Amino acid sequence: MTDAAEQGYFTEENSAEAVISRNSGAEDPRLKEVMEVIVRHLHAAVKEIEPTQEEWMKAIMFLTGTGQMCSEWRQEYILLSDITGVSMLVDAINNRKPTGATESTVLGPFHIEDAPERALGDDICLDQKGEPMLVRGRILDIAGNPIPGAKIDVWQANDEGFYDVQQKGLQPDFNLRGVFRANEAGEYWFRGVKPRFYPIPDDGPVGKLLGALGRHPFRPAHLHYIIEASGFETLVTHVFDPDDPYIHSDAVFGVKESLMARFEPVDDPARIKEAGFDGPFFEVRQDFVLAAQ
Ligand code: BEZ
Ligand code: FE
Repeated sequence: MTDAAEQGYFTEENSAEAVISRNSGAEDPRLKEVMEVIVRHLHAAVKEIEPTQEEWMKAIMFLTGTGQMCSEWRQEYILLSDITGVSMLVDAINNRKPTGATESTVLGPFHIEDAPERALGDDICLDQKGEPMLVRGRILDIAGNPIPGAKIDVWQANDEGFYDVQQKGLQPDFNLRGVFRANEAGEYWFRGVKPRFYPIPDDGPVGKLLGALGRHPFRPAHLHYIIEASGFETLVTHVFDPDDPYIHSDAVFGVKESLMARFEPVDDPARIKEAGFDGPFFEVRQDFVLAAQ
């Protein structure tokens, strides 16, 4: 360390050390560690970028606008974390699963805590809009044993790409959401509608940034799941449609190959009758394997 730093002065060369040593009295060791790493990397980035004063002010105004966009219903900083890949990185670090367990992906902002419990086979589509879909599968442990009673919380966007909470008054409350319990064989099944790709909210600073980066705001069609069972790690995941046009360019980097399931069109009259539909439907089969705690 230079003499200047020892005396508490700040120079271009010792910039990070000057700030880090000033934080040395922090009581919380984790805060101290986190701030040290952030300061070190932030100063290195500024040294590499060498922003002009105007560029730095532009960055400040971007962050200001991001905060101002936040409300009870909108979390622009989460979107920023999503489109920079940080949400998926934090998810990966916190969900290192054993081989054979289903992989996790982002939760997203549209989950609600109090979705209604529904019976196996119920239709979560409350407004009869969209192409009918039957989703089925099993909840298993790593050895392939069923997990009876596992709680399966599902939610999805409608055929126009909107969640009920984005269209209050237009869609029925709790449309396309439900909580199911796996049966004794670990099986679950429910009806919904074939989801469609949709843009993440892009009318704020994050959407503008995506545009400036030459990126689109779309997420490929998917179903959301949170699966819980006692003695197992909670799984937050999706099922993706591999034929979606955005499957290789999810705006939030949530796609994993293991989470794709065919949305199989079914038009055989016998199968239509057996599944209880009036006409052709899509069938999606996906099992989920939970890691033990
Ligand atoms: C979602 O899948 O619901 C979602 C995830 C990240 C950002 C916006 C939406
Ligand atoms: Fe989603």
